[in-house]
Amino acid sequence: MANKILIKKKINIFKKKIHVSGDKSLSIRWVLFSSLASGISKSKNLLMSEDVMASIKAIRKLGIRIIFKKDICYIYGKGIEGYKYKKNLIINAENSGTLGRLILGLLVNTPYPIKLIGDQSLSKRDFKRVTEPLSKFGPKFKLSKNKFLPLTIYGNSTLNGINFYEKIGSAQCKSSVVFAGLRSNGTTSIKAKKSRDHTELLCKYLKLPVSIKKKGLYDEIKVKKVKKVKPLNYNIPSDISSAAFFIVLTALNKGSNLIIKNVNINPSRIGVIRILKKMGIKIKFENKKIYKNEKIANIYVEGSSKIKPINCPTKLNSEAIDEFLIIFLIAAKADGISYFKNIGELNKKESPRLKWGAKILNLMGIRTVTTNSSIKIFGNPELQINKKITIKNFLKDHRIFMTSVIAALSFGGIWNIHDRDSIKTSFPNFLKIINDLKNND
Ligand code: S3P
Repeated sequence: MANKILIKKKINIFKKKIHVSGDKSLSIRWVLFSSLASGISKSKNLLMSEDVMASIKAIRKLGIRIIFKKDICYIYGKGIEGYKYKKNLIINAENSGTLGRLILGLLVNTPYPIKLIGDQSLSKRDFKRVTEPLSKFGPKFKLSKNKFLPLTIYGNSTLNGINFYEKIGSAQCKSSVVFAGLRSNGTTSIKAKKSRDHTELLCKYLKLPVSIKKKGLYDEIKVKKVKKVKPLNYNIPSDISSAAFFIVLTALNKGSNLIIKNVNINPSRIGVIRILKKMGIKIKFENKKIYKNEKIANIYVEGSSKIKPINCPTKLNSEAIDEFLIIFLIAAKADGISYFKNIGELNKKESPRLKWGAKILNLMGIRTVTTNSSIKIFGNPELQINKKITIKNFLKDHRIFMTSVIAALSFGGIWNIHDRDSIKTSFPNFLKIINDLKNND
């Protein structure tokens, strides 16, 4: 099958219930926590994507048995010090920043050097943001050009807790330091700008020696050395970052409505919902419940005829960090100018997403004014595309592919969108769900 997709027609009105796949952040964290447990951990609805499989391969390389039986994944943890380190080990994080950065926190006491590599996109991303704090625990790092993969970690058998001020709002940096803190003597104190808190919630659920104080824009986290991690049986809820594509597709198609079942609505992840609600989109959470400290709900969304522009509050930036591309499509149809600022982090993702967001909007005929960290989007409520558009992102960013598909189905035109395989990293059945929505029976 060609590694691209041609879309020539807008989607018809739909009214459906769907399930999207398991949460990526939770799936990767489940693999990593379970790899430290004393005993067998099981998960259901684990996201079967390349990022998660890369995590499984990495943990298997450390001597931990992982098997699948039907739709259940089993990890045979051998305790906190149960990894079997070998000489000349290479771990490939492929496309996953989360895996690459979090796993380093677990490898700080490796007796042999370990090389960490990644794909073309990951090799362009900053790893100094994690190696700098991690080196204060005791290990040493050799990075390519001082900042990038491939890198080598030289572990240290004596690790001491650190003080770390995490200013970016990066859950990956925060989590990596939490993992290293769990292996270290003394106390690790982290002052962290707010970001997704799955790691902390899992530590709390597992009763690990981690305390969290929420303070305004920052959290204070204290971590002590862990002796034992109990096995973690987890039914992974659906990923709001995957749901977001269908929320926007529905919102842009008046007359449609959609229920997305069993989605993780952790407050640190629902920026997209808060922003879309401010823009006038009708969205509701139904059947709310708590599962192992995480909030879960069905999401109901309706197509809108009138979309308001937004001056997006920066306090929502970290909560919506993976959803801005898709939010920009809503802004494209708003009745006025939307403004998103302090979002320079977007250019540090799988590809420079702020630049790409502007590029896609401009190809659609939408005017934008961008800086390195902001974008103004001049919305057009009558937007109707009548031309050919080709999207080819050489870094094969999954979210650029999926955003382009949603734009094509919502605004018309003839779209030739390359790199369909990119969805395998986070949302392999994305196109199948699109097809199910098209078959409106
Ligand atoms: C993630 C954190 C975010 C996010 C990424 C997943 C995580 O990155 O963009 O897709 O699971 O911790 P940063 O922590 O670098 O902002």
